[in-house]
Amino acid sequence: MSNEILLLSGPNLDLLGTRNPEIYGTTTLAEHVERFTKLASDAGFSVRHVQSNFEGDLIEAVHGARESAVAIVINAGALTHSSWALADALDTFNGIKVEVHLSNPAAREPFRHLSTLAGSVSGSIAGFGATSYELALDAVRRLTSPSS
Ligand code: DQA
Repeated sequence: MSNEILLLSGPNLDLLGTRNPEIYGTTTLAEHVERFTKLASDAGFSVRHVQSNFEGDLIEAVHGARESAVAIVINAGALTHSSWALADALDTFNGIKVEVHLSNPAAREPFRHLSTLAGSVSGSIAGFGATSYELALDAVRRLTSPSS
């Protein structure tokens, strides 16, 4: 069985560190990915990270994961609130899928209250800053090794 986690980062997340630091903090995407990869590796997983500002790239990464990954951890950025195409792609992936957000979209502007992805993932974690990624990894770990 694969031990790969596809970590997906959507539009504007490449600007983390300087983008609205009062909301998203000052940790860069590279730092989030490095920490996630280290913790995942300690738990026996490999990580493939894909960041794109283009919806189609993210969809194709999900398609690729169907053959190679045991889980997808996805922060789709604002595509979370609009992309039915990404939801359809996630529906084709049979492994564990965790939707992640640094901020808590439910506590923000009304347009962020809808997640088009929520019904296509195993579960969602939001609002804990960098810790959201650690909680997502913990979910993957527990769901792939039911005894731990
Ligand atoms: C985000 C929340 C989204 O509403 C926003 O568009 C983002 C980041 C988060 O991680 O909090 O780009 O996904």
